[in-house]
Amino acid sequence: MTVDLDALIARMTWEQKLLQLQIVWRPDAAEREALLRRGIGSTFWPPSAEEANEAQRIAVEETELGIPVLVGLDVIHGQFTIFPTPLAQAASFDPAVAELDARVSASEARSAGVTWTFSPMVDVSRDPRWGRVVEGFDEDAYLASVFAAAKVAGYQGRALTAGDSVAACLKHFVAYGAGEAGRDYNSADVSDRRLRELYLEPFRAGVEAGAATVMAAFTSLNGTPMHAGRALLTGVLKDEWGFDGVVVGDADGVAQLVQHGIVPDERGAVIAAIEAGVDIVMGGTVLVDSDGVAFVSPDELSEERVDDAVRRVLRLKQRLGLFEHPYVDASAASHGTTERYRDLSRQAAERCTVLLTNGGALPLPDRGRILLAGPYARSLDHLGTWVQHFASTVRESLADAVAAELPAVDWDIVDGCGFFDATDASLGEAVSRAADADLVVVAVGEPSRISGEASSRADITLPEAQRRLIHALCDAGARVAVVLVTGRPLVVEDWIDRVDAVLCVWHLGSEAPAAIARTLSGRANPGGRVPMTFPRAVGQIPVHYDHERTGRPARTGRALLPETIAEFTGPNNTDDYYTSKFLDLPLGPRFDFGHGLSYTTFALEGFSLSTEALTADELDAGLRAEVTVTNTGDRAGDDVVLLFVTDEVASVTQPVRRLRGFSRVTLAPGESAAVGFRLDADDLRFWADGSRRVLEPGEFTVTVGDGTSEQRLALRLEEAA
Ligand code: NOJ
Repeated sequence: MTVDLDALIARMTWEQKLLQLQIVWRPDAAEREALLRRGIGSTFWPPSAEEANEAQRIAVEETELGIPVLVGLDVIHGQFTIFPTPLAQAASFDPAVAELDARVSASEARSAGVTWTFSPMVDVSRDPRWGRVVEGFDEDAYLASVFAAAKVAGYQGRALTAGDSVAACLKHFVAYGAGEAGRDYNSADVSDRRLRELYLEPFRAGVEAGAATVMAAFTSLNGTPMHAGRALLTGVLKDEWGFDGVVVGDADGVAQLVQHGIVPDERGAVIAAIEAGVDIVMGGTVLVDSDGVAFVSPDELSEERVDDAVRRVLRLKQRLGLFEHPYVDASAASHGTTERYRDLSRQAAERCTVLLTNGGALPLPDRGRILLAGPYARSLDHLGTWVQHFASTVRESLADAVAAELPAVDWDIVDGCGFFDATDASLGEAVSRAADADLVVVAVGEPSRISGEASSRADITLPEAQRRLIHALCDAGARVAVVLVTGRPLVVEDWIDRVDAVLCVWHLGSEAPAAIARTLSGRANPGGRVPMTFPRAVGQIPVHYDHERTGRPARTGRALLPETIAEFTGPNNTDDYYTSKFLDLPLGPRFDFGHGLSYTTFALEGFSLSTEALTADELDAGLRAEVTVTNTGDRAGDDVVLLFVTDEVASVTQPVRRLRGFSRVTLAPGESAAVGFRLDADDLRFWADGSRRVLEPGEFTVTVGDGTSEQRLALRLEEAA
């Protein structure tokens, strides 16, 4: 059945149209029912398949027009089965991980009546103070774009009509991750060029992948709050990119235009938002009141724009097949996780861990006496942010999981401190128990609640109590391996050089303890990489791998610490002194984008390009880069090969390098594999300003690296003859 949308719209009253453009934020059951009877177009998921069906029944059978509703829910990294957080997924450098999460999420969600998820968040950010970096993928536009497309493919499946597909929502359009000082909801001021190059790019990729919806950002960007950002919502997203889906406002984001101070009241806010291109307002009942009276009249809001918004909403319902099949089979609905999905979540989790340092303490020996200490020894807080009350629980602690994984080890368990509190007695207890152990595994981190929305931190070190525990153990001479559970890159300077090994495990979801235990034992070999730079100090932020060149770059590898300052301020040493650096920090970040070790070692050899010089026309046909990776160690493992391009001379200052490809390969001991990449003109183009993307002939450098070693080749793009 194809519904004639134009005919349907022609039958609708002004109020009925406005009702299609609303989703009310967290109504109680009675309010929801009243809104549905009035003919509201969307609702948040009432938490069961039966109630979702009842919502559809009211919409279809008890309203004049009988239009089914969109049922929305934030399914961010799992509804029942929780997968690693998005940032953790990006650390896998394996888009299949994100696609798998989205597939499982979609099947759990749709079967229970959800039709629309407010995910993926594709906001890149260079500021780990921002709590929401955990919900996004990384600092890099290319990696985020690949993951955005993978998530969209996973959620939406082959067809939105399928019983295991949901409409995806790219959020938050745009530059939410650029908020000043990393403070959530804060304003951003970004050049048009950077907007194009960095912040818009993952959205463009997500739209190209077919994302059905996009959410506006809370942020004010360059003076215009995004909910009123016509130039971007309509100009770029809808007109330039041809996006014919739905733009939804964020929770109360439209009404908050009043707080932003660009309109005097909510009526003005609604008009500004819808005229700007918002199609569905998320928040209170700001369009039509409880008696069905519209707050705005056709004189105030163009009917053409309203019709366009309504058409977009109805078209989405049609794409989802809701006019034909508004109901789900409640008897077959997911009510919770399954062993199969838990197993998939564990496998995904094992691909996300990053071995930051290792002096040999990891993998753990399979016998001897090991002390497991720290608040994460027994805490079950591994799910991460954006998990709702109906999510599956974590069934075992890390203490249980390591005991099961390494049964011949003589395990001793002690907390030593809480997440935020330590006493001399609790630390002393840990130290005395460590004296009897060959090795101490300290499981520390950011509990889920201090990352995510509204959880920006000015100090991104580990909570003090946990740092005290690490120092106390190191002071006592213990050999320490740290399991770092976190929602963001942390500043780890005060303790990182004191411990033998650090395994970063993020928040890995429902099966985190088993995945961590299997990685500690070596059954799983860590193959993830840092997707977001770990700074040395908060004062170094923003710090990211693709920083632009400066006129006075500092020499890499030289530390300019106070004790060496004299050397740099000495006579005739202007070269070193007047360079771009911090006097009180060693150069560069603590862990660069792409960093990550393994229990085995790899060699990159024989890097080649299919040509070293070509014209733009020839480049259209593609250029091939290839390198051979060999596992030179004695256990199987994964290497991640990254491909970067540097534009050596351009009319606009360029980043020192830009990621243009990556590939994760699994190799047996001694095994080699050729890893190939295709580069084309788009990989060499850059935005000259906000409207021109150019390809300039000249010299480029192509680099392949795996975080441990690199190889470079020159490439020349020649003028056409
Ligand atoms: C506010 C958040 O910014 C957004 O990401 C989320 O989807 C909405 N609330 C709805 O829950």
